[in-house]
Amino acid sequence: DKGNHRHFMEKEIYEQPEVISHALSHYVDFAENTIGANAAAIDFKAATGLAISACGTAYLAGLVGKYWFERYARLPVEIDVASEFRYREMPLSPSQAALFISQSGETADTLASLRYCRDNGLKIGAVVNVRESTIARESDAVFPIMAGPEIGVASTKAFTCQLAVLAALAIGAGKARGTVSADEERALVRHLAEMPRIMSRVLNLIQPQMESLSRELSKCKDVLYLGRGTSFPLAMEGALKLKEISYIHAEGYAAGELKHGPIALIDENMPVIVIAPYDRFFEKTVSNMQEVAARGGRIIFITDEAGAAASKLPTTATIALPVVDEIIAPMIFSLPIQLLAYHTAVFMGTDVDQPRNLAKSVTVE
Ligand code: M6R
Repeated sequence: DKGNHRHFMEKEIYEQPEVISHALSHYVDFAENTIGANAAAIDFKAATGLAISACGTAYLAGLVGKYWFERYARLPVEIDVASEFRYREMPLSPSQAALFISQSGETADTLASLRYCRDNGLKIGAVVNVRESTIARESDAVFPIMAGPEIGVASTKAFTCQLAVLAALAIGAGKARGTVSADEERALVRHLAEMPRIMSRVLNLIQPQMESLSRELSKCKDVLYLGRGTSFPLAMEGALKLKEISYIHAEGYAAGELKHGPIALIDENMPVIVIAPYDRFFEKTVSNMQEVAARGGRIIFITDEAGAAASKLPTTATIALPVVDEIIAPMIFSLPIQLLAYHTAVFMGTDVDQPRNLAKSVTVE
């Protein structure tokens, strides 16, 4: 049932504040502002490293997770798309832990990567939406994302719930490994707790602007997304979402890679969507934006109020989100990229929930 939404995808975008709050309450003790026992079902303390594998959007959630596990838990992360991971013959040791991220829990390549790790003696954790799935059954520990059924082929609420769970796991791992102090844990958990409310506010705030921008985007043949740090996986997720449902060619790049190739594409016909909260990477990303502006590129700048005030560069549009802590920025910044893809597809009249050539669950290699 779509309720009063036109598509399941739209319904699932607007469900995010509620399902994220549900997901968080499984991993977080909001009374004490601590990470709870459900996040410790894998022994991250003893782990010498973490292997992560997944496909598509789940892989991009894992890529954000890599930044978090390395930063907060000082745990080195090896991550690859499952179709490569399973054939890499990568040397692994039983002292490493492994996480497999899958909404459906049935993705063939992700399952094969899991079995490769299991055969190598690693402890296996599954970050899944479907708790009865094959990937969940074959794991030592299951970390449910509690998003509820996701019907739209383009993943939205599963992505942000995967992120929320990975954030809790990484903070929990940091606590276990002594790299996150009790004070830091409380502060981070407080930020997680604020997230559902901020998400609701942002969804209401940006909707009209996303709808009007999508008219512009729908006229384009190609779109480039740029980001740095955790905004880099988001840039790739924005591009994936747009191409899946609007069939517009889009690419996500690390902002620093611009001058190593994609800058040759810049002209007035290809909008560049820059994702840059006012964080420690902001100035660097803005200097990449400057390179786009200098070549007549049109910029759609997704930033926060502090970033909008700090940059003097001309943009076609600036989306100024509220300033939020770094730990929740990836979830908050997912909202404009989802809505932009959604409204562009609606405007173009594609089959938003069932885009051509795609299946919700990919159970063959
Ligand atoms: O069920 P899974 O999370 O394992 O699926 C992985 C990908 O097939 C999936 O995320 C796909 O990329 C989505 N259509 C993205 O919107």
